[in-house]
Amino acid sequence: MKGRVLITGASSGIGAATAQRLAKEGYNLILTGRRSDRLQQATAQLNADYPQIQVEWRKLDVQIESDVIAFYQDLEQSGIMPTILVNNAGLAAGLAQVDEALTNDWHRMIDTNIKGALFMCKYLIPHLKNQNTGHIVQMSSVVSREVYAGGSVYSATKHALDAIHRTLRLELLPWNIRLTSINPGMVETEFSLVRFNGDQERADAVYNEVNPLRPEDVADAVAYCLSVPPHVNIPELHIAAACQATATRVRKHDGTLRG
Ligand SMILES: NC(=O)c1ccc[n+]([C@@H]2O[C@H](COP(=O)([O-])OP(=O)(O)OC[C@H]3O[C@@H](n4cnc5c(N)ncnc54)[C@H](OP(=O)(O)O)[C@@H]3O)[C@@H](O)[C@H]2O)c1
Repeated sequence: MKGRVLITGASSGIGAATAQRLAKEGYNLILTGRRSDRLQQATAQLNADYPQIQVEWRKLDVQIESDVIAFYQDLEQSGIMPTILVNNAGLAAGLAQVDEALTNDWHRMIDTNIKGALFMCKYLIPHLKNQNTGHIVQMSSVVSREVYAGGSVYSATKHALDAIHRTLRLELLPWNIRLTSINPGMVETEFSLVRFNGDQERADAVYNEVNPLRPEDVADAVAYCLSVPPHVNIPELHIAAACQATATRVRKHDGTLRG
């Protein structure tokens, strides 16, 4: 038995692919997100495909602190507290410059990508300290180190997540708790559909004529970081499509460059 992994944002994209990959590896799983139907379906399928592991799901909006507290209390009472957290839930909202952006988009990104990620850590860490074991994987981004026009607040949230990750490495050093930050470049998921508020054509244009990462590529990276021997930690892992040099500069199929 390899331990129990809590994945936030497991209803699509990288989180869903990570659930598939870790189920195959033999981890017990707790899948969370806001879309219950998807989580329920994925859980049923994983339990059928991998009867040797336990897969559970819970509806959870990471933005709501009181819900995160109640969620962990429920897991504790059910005897299924995780020792591994894949802190993956996140989004970009909009691509407008600061003076034209919708402030509600900023609230959603900050509340999910920073405060939500923090709530998930804060209320799990006492349990990890008690157990003197654990691993927290933050799903950050190439934009934890880069900026681009129209991406101010999304980049700021991932810069913040990077600062939180590096701080936790210092704070948790006395305990046997590993911390990893994964920084993917462009991955073809529902990310752009969410960013462009359901505009499928605009979302598709992001991935047209280029060869982005698949969510399974990032899931492989998560599995690798969890699999290293106990005396090893991968503090940061950068992963990008072969055709991508920066957040915006990408080589198209015809050899010309975008960005
Ligand atoms: N795709 C990329 O190019 C890329 C690149 C670098 C980093 N990332 C990061 O990778 C992570 C996963 O994104 P993705 O690409 O897989 O996009 P995605 O397909 O849109 O998945 C995002 C996941 O986050 C969940 N989520 C969003 N808001 C939430 C909330 N308030 N509470 C709980 N769950 C929430 C969504 O579930 P519900 O809607 O069901 O709640 C969904 O499962 C994000 O942190 C993103 O910033 C993505």
